[in-house]
Amino acid sequence: MLPVGQQAAELALWACLLLALFYAGGGNFAVLSAFNFLTPAGIPLTSNHSLWKLTLPTTSLLTSAIDEWLETAPQRDEAGAVELGGLPLFEEALPFFFLAVSLEMALSWLQGRRHWSYQATIASLSAGLLHEAAEGFCRVLTLVPYCFIHEHFRVVDLSGNKALMWVVAFVGVDIGFYWSHRLAHEVNLLWAIHQVHHSSEEFNLATALRQNITGFDDILCFLPLALLVPPEVHQTHMTVNLLFQFWIHTRHIPKLPWPIEFVFNTPSHHRVHHGRNPWCIDCNYGGTLIIWDRLFGTFCEEREDDAIVYGIVPPLKSFEPWAAQLHHLREIGRRMSRTPAPEAAKHIVAGPGRLWVAGKDGKAGRWKDFPVPELGHRANPVATPLRALPTPLALYTLLSFSVATAAVVSSSLGPAFEERPPLVSIGVAAFVGSAVWTIGLLHDRSPAAAAIEPARALVALAVCAWVAMGWPAPEGDGPLDWLSLERVQALGWGLQSALAVLAVQAALSAVVCPLYAAETAAEKEAWRLALAEQGAASKRTFEARTKAAAGESKKRR
Ligand SMILES: *[C@@H]1O[C@H](CO)[C@@H](O)[C@H](O)[C@H]1NC(C)=O
Ligand SMILES: *[C@@H]1O[C@H](CO)[C@@H](O)[C@H](O)[C@H]1NC(C)=O
Repeated sequence: MLPVGQQAAELALWACLLLALFYAGGGNFAVLSAFNFLTPAGIPLTSNHSLWKLTLPTTSLLTSAIDEWLETAPQRDEAGAVELGGLPLFEEALPFFFLAVSLEMALSWLQGRRHWSYQATIASLSAGLLHEAAEGFCRVLTLVPYCFIHEHFRVVDLSGNKALMWVVAFVGVDIGFYWSHRLAHEVNLLWAIHQVHHSSEEFNLATALRQNITGFDDILCFLPLALLVPPEVHQTHMTVNLLFQFWIHTRHIPKLPWPIEFVFNTPSHHRVHHGRNPWCIDCNYGGTLIIWDRLFGTFCEEREDDAIVYGIVPPLKSFEPWAAQLHHLREIGRRMSRTPAPEAAKHIVAGPGRLWVAGKDGKAGRWKDFPVPELGHRANPVATPLRALPTPLALYTLLSFSVATAAVVSSSLGPAFEERPPLVSIGVAAFVGSAVWTIGLLHDRSPAAAAIEPARALVALAVCAWVAMGWPAPEGDGPLDWLSLERVQALGWGLQSALAVLAVQAALSAVVCPLYAAETAAEKEAWRLALAEQGAASKRTFEARTKAAAGESKKRR
């Protein structure tokens, strides 16, 4: 029996977590949709209505986005429903992602369950930041053909029946997601983009934010919908489909009542999807509904008798976010270099388990499919050990990560991407891309980081100072003395604090990185022991599991 205090704390954490998951997971869209279709007058078209404060609290409190949306609000149909497209749902979810991740960590900590590591969490959030900083530069690839098809080849206009449009968009996006997700696992080049999301050996809410940098969707699976659904409505349903998949990345929520598990994608189904036990591979591709997996034969039930091990085969073994983005691209390159010329190109579209086997003794080479090896195999070890991370180093990387996050957030609060000077977008992307790179190097305990990180921090400070020097004087009062009080005041709050923070960071990095980046002799020894222990555990696991499997197949015969 847990002490009463702890029970109460757990209960309070759960309440807050569920609330955060509601907003981060697109639950507000379900409420808005229900309101839109079930009340005779549909959703209110005034921004001061309490429905907006309830469903989009931060957006309606902090920005004028609702007013902007209402200005262009589409027409009502005869039933009073409005077309739900273009709502700021993703922006609303952003702060709740961070809140939910922190609450889940607190819950793990309170329950004494180790469902996360600091390094893996930062690596996942870094991938999310890279995704934001790159603004999904491939998204136009999807958007342009979609708009073109909708404009020229639309077969029916569903705007007279918004409820029907909602259902068509929801089901169409979900089945499109099923097939594009399935392709992303079964075609090497798409897997090279998608595997980033699976590369963490932890499975928690932070893992959900570990997105690929391209934002590239397999458009072919979504284009048929352009015949029916307008681009804005399609985009909104795509966003909601993505948001729904946030709350299912957790080990804290057990199997739910069977009607839910039967119809919807749930944490239980998604844990299987992220597993690398051979029985978990290529299962449960669904987005919001799991019925597509049941229909197309890719469904696997979570098992009580076999603990799931998470991650990819072979494991990434690094916390450096660029390494995660490039992991399988490099593998494709390696495979191509070992395959004779006319065949080599096929690696791009082959499945990740399909390899070219060179012919021996004059025999011709051939293609062969290799299943994922049993847990404990060299390519599928039981776990990757964690290197030690001295506290000063952890505090420093936390500072660096917070600064990078602030850069992305403040640039997204400024003018829209299209109206921003390109140099600003490029500058922010370069700053964030290099910051998460060196954080990863420090977490991997790369000795090179001792020099690279102080140099990077100094360059960032120098660039910021250079921008500050070119800052125009207010009211064009002629040149101001560089370092004069007037000039500092003219810089404005944002640039002043950026300069101050970057100066502090540069100074800290010059002390902390040389002292702690490289491993001490004791840390090296501990790492060697951890590797040896992992090797032994893997060997035992592999032997036990292959023996059990051999016994099984004998019994069956
Ligand atoms: C909300 O705004 C409308 C006009 O935009 C106004 O008529 C109404 O009184 C406002 N309601 C509240 C509660 O402020
Ligand atoms: C890449 O990320 C975007 C946005 O998070 C996602 O919609 C898309 O499906 C991902 N692409 C692949 C191939 O995983």
